[in-house]
Amino acid sequence: MASNNWTITDIPDLTGKTVIVTGGNSGLGFESVKAFALKGARVILACRSVAKGEEAKKQIVKFLPTADIQVMELDLTDLKSIRNFATKFKQNHARLDILLNNAGIMMVPYGLTKDGFESQLGTNHLGHFALTGLLLDVLKNTPTSRVVNVSSMAHSSGEMDFNNLLFEKGKGYTPIKAYGRSKLSNLLFTYELQRFFETNKINTMAVAAHPGFSDTNLAHTMMEKWYYRLLKPLFFRMAQPASMGALPQLRASVDPAAKPSQFYGPDGKRQMKGYPVVVQPKEKAFNKDDARRLWEASEKLTSVIYS
Ligand SMILES: NC(=O)c1ccc[n+]([C@@H]2O[C@H](COP(=O)([O-])OP(=O)(O)OC[C@H]3O[C@@H](n4cnc5c(N)ncnc54)[C@H](OP(=O)(O)O)[C@@H]3O)[C@@H](O)[C@H]2O)c1
Repeated sequence: MASNNWTITDIPDLTGKTVIVTGGNSGLGFESVKAFALKGARVILACRSVAKGEEAKKQIVKFLPTADIQVMELDLTDLKSIRNFATKFKQNHARLDILLNNAGIMMVPYGLTKDGFESQLGTNHLGHFALTGLLLDVLKNTPTSRVVNVSSMAHSSGEMDFNNLLFEKGKGYTPIKAYGRSKLSNLLFTYELQRFFETNKINTMAVAAHPGFSDTNLAHTMMEKWYYRLLKPLFFRMAQPASMGALPQLRASVDPAAKPSQFYGPDGKRQMKGYPVVVQPKEKAFNKDDARRLWEASEKLTSVIYS
C-alpha cells in the first residue's frame, strides 16, 4: 500500500461540476463540501436539518466567500423526502458529476425509519439506494459521472441474512450487527451498481471509500455510552481529524486515475488513519449472489426500480 500522500491540493479544478454530498453539514460530509467548494464545484449540501445545513454553509462562506453551496433538505429515513429532493434537484440542475453518498448513523438502538425499515440499513443503505436510483437519469446524462458510497471497516463484521434483512421486530438485532450489515451493503451495492452501469453501457462509475477512524459526531454519539466514555481519551488519540478522514472519499470522487469499483481507505496501520490509497475489502463484499439479492430486496422495499 504505497502512499503518495494524496491531499486536497491534488483535487483538480472542479469549475462547472455539480456535486451532491449527503450529510454535508457534519464530520466527513462537511469536510467534503468544503473541499469541493474550494475547488470551484457547485455543491448541494443535502441534510435532514436545513438549519444545521445553513449553519454549515455559513461557516464555509466565512472563509470562502465565493463558495457555491446550496442547502437542500433530504431525510434518508423517509422515501417521500428522498423523492422530493430528487425532483427538486432535477428541476434546477441539468448535470450531476459526483453523488457522494456519505450520510450515516452508527450503532443506534433498534428503531424504524418512516417507511418501517430497520434504521441503520434504512439510512445507510436503502435511503442511498433510492436516492441514487432516482438520480440515475441525470447521472446518465453527465459524462464520466461518479457515485461514491461511504462504507467502513465495520463491513468486515457484517453478515447478510435475506430471511431477516431488516431484523424484523428487533429479532437478532444488535447495534453492531446492524451497522456492520449496512456498511457491507454499501460495498455490495457499489459493485452491483458498477455491473449495472457496464451492462447498460452507462458512462458512470461506482466507487467506494472508508475513513478509518475519524473524529466526527458519529464517534461522539457512540462515546456517550458509559463503557466507551472510560476509553474516550484513548479512542480520540487513535482517531484522525475529520479533514484527514474525508480524504479517501474525496480521492474516490475526483482522482482521474480512479477505476470502477475501487475502494479507498487510509494507508496507516489497520487502515485506521493516514493518506488515502486503494484498499481491499473483505472477500464477502465481492459476493455476487448477495449483491444481486440485496439489489432485488432494495428495489422491492423502496419501489425505486433502476432502468
Ligand atoms: N467517523 C468515523 O470514524 C467513521 C468510520 C467509518 C465509517 N464512517 C462513515 O462516514 C459517514 C459519515 O459519518 P461521519 O463520521 O462524518 O459522522 P457525522 O459527523 O455524525 O455525520 C453524519 C451525517 O449524516 C447525517 N444523517 C444522519 N441520518 C440522516 C438522515 N436520516 N438523512 C440525512 N442525513 C442524515 C447527519 O445529519 P445530522 O447532523 O442531522 O445528524 C450528518 O450530517 C457515515 O456513512 C459513516 O458510517 C465514519
